Amino acid sequence: MQNLAHQRILIIGGSAGMGLGAAQRLAKAGAEVLIAGRSQQRLDQAVASIEGHAAGYAADFTNSASLTALFARIGRIDHLVLAASSSAAWGPIAQVSGDALSTALNQKLVGYWMSIQAAIPQLRPDGSITLLSGAASRTPMPGTAALAAVNGGITQMAQTLALELAPLRVNVISPGLVDTPAYDGMSAEAKAGMFAAAAARLPLGRTGAVDDIAQAVEFLIASSWTTGALLDVDGGARMPVQPAR
Ligand SMILES: NC(=O)c1ccc[n+]([C@@H]2O[C@H](COP(=O)([O-])OP(=O)(O)OC[C@H]3O[C@@H](n4cnc5c(N)ncnc54)[C@H](OP(=O)(O)O)[C@@H]3O)[C@@H](O)[C@H]2O)c1
Repeated sequence: MQNLAHQRILIIGGSAGMGLGAAQRLAKAGAEVLIAGRSQQRLDQAVASIEGHAAGYAADFTNSASLTALFARIGRIDHLVLAASSSAAWGPIAQVSGDALSTALNQKLVGYWMSIQAAIPQLRPDGSITLLSGAASRTPMPGTAALAAVNGGITQMAQTLALELAPLRVNVISPGLVDTPAYDGMSAEAKAGMFAAAAARLPLGRTGAVDDIAQAVEFLIASSWTTGALLDVDGGARMPVQPAR
């Protein structure tokens, strides 16, 4: 395993949720952590919560000019983590318009694509890229076809890039349901119901915490002989608990 001390690691989507959890863990391991997101206020709060060497940069990963400006400011990096979120396109096919799917693809798949393109000139040739996809692309569930399309595209793209960009390592983490600010828009009651129902279906009996994913991010960055991997960190979501017969 590589020692992460003094490694420069950029986390796009590092000001909240799993990206922030990863930033906190990596900084504790001695890395120099750079986090990016759109809101400067959110970045400032996140940097204040990180013990270690951290800095925040405002950038929008759906905008190529913003990404170019970001990489011009930060310079060389050893590793890139993509943890920004998309506009979620939930619902059965009859209710998710082509425009909504198109927006979701643009905001996550295309955003990740443009982030990697912009990062390559600044990435150490034998560094790494870790992408967060989503368990909807691994476990078919009614109402999540659009999420499956977006996140499945990310997994397939990453495996091809692992070949194309070697010796740069490219790996994917597929997170299951994790309690993050992504669900702040739900009522407390609806959120508690959704998380309880999901936990009951999981072999491990609980939904995820951000540090469950952060551990996996740290592992994939440090694991110098791992590339093209897809790591399911989802409490066992692919093997849902079945009611007794
Ligand atoms: N939470 C889950 O249950 C879950 C499950 C499966 C997969 N995922 C995936 O895991 C990743 C992380 O999810 P999360 O729940 O940790 O998200 P989150 O808590 O909503 O945090 C998202 C982060 O991305 C940043 N961001 C959003 N849009 C951006 C943009 N256009 N440009 C730059 N930064 C942007 C946010 O900051 P600003 O808003 O300030 O830009 C924030 O730092 C996402 O790709 C999500 O789809 C999540």
